[in-house]
Amino acid sequence: MNVLIIGVGYVGLVTAVCLAEKGHSVTCMDTNIDKIKMLKTGKSPIFERDLENLIQKNKQRLKYITEFVEQSDNYDIIFIAVGTPEKYDGNANLKQLWNVVHNLPRLIDYNCVIVIKSTVPIGTNEKIEQYLKTHIKSEIKLSVVSNPEFLSQGTAIKDTLQASRIVIGSNNDYATQIMLDLYHDFDVPKLITDRQSAEMIKYASNDFLALKISYINEIANLCEIIGANIDDVSHGMALDERIGNKFLRAGIGYGGSCFPKDTKALHWMSNLYDKEIKTVKAAIDVNEQQKLRLIKKARKYIDDFSDLKVAVLGLTFKPETDDLRDSPAIVNIDILLEEGANVFVYDPVGMENFKKLYKKNVKFCKSVNEALKDADVCFIFTEWKQFQELTYENFRLMKKAIIIDGRNCFDIKKMCKLPIIYDSIGRITINNL
Ligand code: UDX
Repeated sequence: MNVLIIGVGYVGLVTAVCLAEKGHSVTCMDTNIDKIKMLKTGKSPIFERDLENLIQKNKQRLKYITEFVEQSDNYDIIFIAVGTPEKYDGNANLKQLWNVVHNLPRLIDYNCVIVIKSTVPIGTNEKIEQYLKTHIKSEIKLSVVSNPEFLSQGTAIKDTLQASRIVIGSNNDYATQIMLDLYHDFDVPKLITDRQSAEMIKYASNDFLALKISYINEIANLCEIIGANIDDVSHGMALDERIGNKFLRAGIGYGGSCFPKDTKALHWMSNLYDKEIKTVKAAIDVNEQQKLRLIKKARKYIDDFSDLKVAVLGLTFKPETDDLRDSPAIVNIDILLEEGANVFVYDPVGMENFKKLYKKNVKFCKSVNEALKDADVCFIFTEWKQFQELTYENFRLMKKAIIIDGRNCFDIKKMCKLPIIYDSIGRITINNL
């Protein structure tokens, strides 16, 4: 099939490459000229396992353009995958999406299916179809389909090619069939629903996972007080198949491009209908507090951070990505700098993005040891494998080995034996100094 994808951020690009891998001809359109230039040379603008390989492998089937008018193909399907970031009040910002939609009528004079990949408030697909139907020639057959994504950064290719499910929210058989043809070679469960349900599946899934994280974080905080161990508690819960073993890792809260914005957007929507979703609100509130847990913990050992050397290990919101969006590390670094700390940061992959985004006065280190050398305290914000492999040989470089670990990177029994202070989430505190 001939497919156009408008917006090749994380979701758009991964979708494009995976459809090309399955034999479709895919044109990627993005107004970001630098990104398109990079893609044309076979380079991936984002750090994502296997992505660059697939871009190169499928180069015959992938085209890149910056403007719709540049070429005159008739597309069977047009995906819209532009960003829908959060507004200051938590609602989703659909400006980019509507810009694209407003341009479609003057460019399409053939039958086609418009697929909304972007995460959008419930009812948006319907509004887009209404708009397009009143602005295109009546003889053109055009349908709008909701096809939400469920890919996680770091495993995005696998999550697309071997998806847990493909959800197709459609209101007519013609469009449904085109979507089934598109995904014919994807041997995964396919669920056909109405468009509102498809839109809701996306929010309900993400918000449920966010809720699960906030729940386990609250349990972890209580474990610390009562002397229980969250690793054992999570494991004991996970053995119950009804609960499952995913998303029960306690830490300093969720970040990233989806959970923070999708929880706020659903909460905003529910208020609009005067039906506040209290559980989602609780997940949001708990997460905001959880992000500050490490600083609170450190205050047990350090009254004032001014002029201290603080080592920060991990900047990205999770490992295997260079994405810093809503990363808990950032708000913590802000606080440390405000208190006059000398902040030395290290991340195996996120440093370049951090340099671009974060203009405040932090020291960028070339290695973990450079960050740790003579540090008064060390914070761990991301569970990169490289950090999990650190030993006392690394921490002994610190002036005083005070380690505040927001991702439970180390086995508590091993840490017990070392001359350190080790404070993690939902487990006993070790104070051997
Ligand atoms: C998420 C969803 O998983 C995906 O289906 C959706 O399409 C996009 O949003 P992503 O943002 O890439 O994917 O990351 P994910 O792996 O879900 O982690 C989100 C955040 O939750 C991270 O900050 C992570 O550290 C945190 N997390 C995750 C925990 O704190 N504990 C866990 O047990 C799992």
